[in-house]
Amino acid sequence: MAGLLQPPLRIISVLHLLLAHFCRGQFQLTGPPQPIVATLGDDIILPCNLVPGADVAGKTLDWTRPELDPRFVFVWRAGQDLVNLKNPSYKGRTSLFTGELKHGNISLKLSNVKPSDGGRYKCYIPDLNTESFVELVVASRVVSWPTISLSRLDRNKGGVVLQCESAGWYPEPEVFWLDGEGNLLSAGPTETVRGPDDLYTVSSRVTVEKRHSNSFTCRVQQNSTNQTRETHIHVPDDFFEVQSSSSSTTAGLAVSLAVCILVILILGFFVWKFSESEINISYF
Ligand SMILES: *[C@@H]1O[C@H](CO)[C@@H](O)[C@H](O)[C@H]1NC(C)=O
Ligand SMILES: *[C@@H]1O[C@H](CO)[C@@H](O)[C@H](O)[C@H]1NC(C)=O
Ligand SMILES: *[C@@H]1O[C@H](CO)[C@@H](O)[C@H](O)[C@H]1NC(C)=O
Repeated sequence: MAGLLQPPLRIISVLHLLLAHFCRGQFQLTGPPQPIVATLGDDIILPCNLVPGADVAGKTLDWTRPELDPRFVFVWRAGQDLVNLKNPSYKGRTSLFTGELKHGNISLKLSNVKPSDGGRYKCYIPDLNTESFVELVVASRVVSWPTISLSRLDRNKGGVVLQCESAGWYPEPEVFWLDGEGNLLSAGPTETVRGPDDLYTVSSRVTVEKRHSNSFTCRVQQNSTNQTRETHIHVPDDFFEVQSSSSSTTAGLAVSLAVCILVILILGFFVWKFSESEINISYF
């Protein structure tokens, strides 16, 4: 079997050498096609590799974030890590795998990931005029399950107001409301509060009417980190019936008014009867 496989393998490696020889300057840096998702506080590797592999330990190597000022995340010159050129927010947090440089692997190690680390990173070798990009998405470690409260009755609209809240998100999530059949409900704007820890707390309100199932879902979703949390609530029928309390109050008022009138009539009758008997007495 090995003998059968060898000739094609040999041809491939010869082709490889020929390509590397004839296409000088065709060295290319490659990065991951997908964003890298990192959890806050973790250490992460941002991949970057030279293809075909070659020793780059003596070359000038840069990791930058084009939108930062200063833009340097890691600077490698003549075998040295030039710490002073780094953006202060990366000091003490970035390094290369120096043992890997001889294979053309200039992947960056980033320690203790912060919310502000999210973004596009460029890996660059000026001598070879090649660069590649890595997108880093930072996700929070723990997000809370949404809590739903029946916050109040909205008399004007004639429904029940549900309020949903969820904390600990990064990046900012979206909030969706669904009914028992999975249909999207239109809700008011999502309120977002960003805490001192850079994490987001979101809340949203929706007014619902009585339905078949009276079951509702609050879904909090962050697409870039693929995080979703949802909570269901079943609103009891009688909660909606309290809603019609305005009409029963009116009915109650009408009943008590009728009772009052009756009492007055009866009293009036007795007063009249009494005065009539008085008249009779005085007559005698
Ligand atoms: C580059 O080095 C890192 C750290 O050792 C390693 O995780 C990664 O797999 C290496 N990449 C390749 C393509 O060898
Ligand atoms: C996230 O995904 C949902 C579908 O799962 C979509 O409705 C929504 O628009 C997306 N949000 C963003 C900001 O792309
Ligand atoms: C997000 O999660 C869904 C299912 O949980 C999965 O199918 C999908 O591949 C994930 N997407 C990413 C970008 O991780």
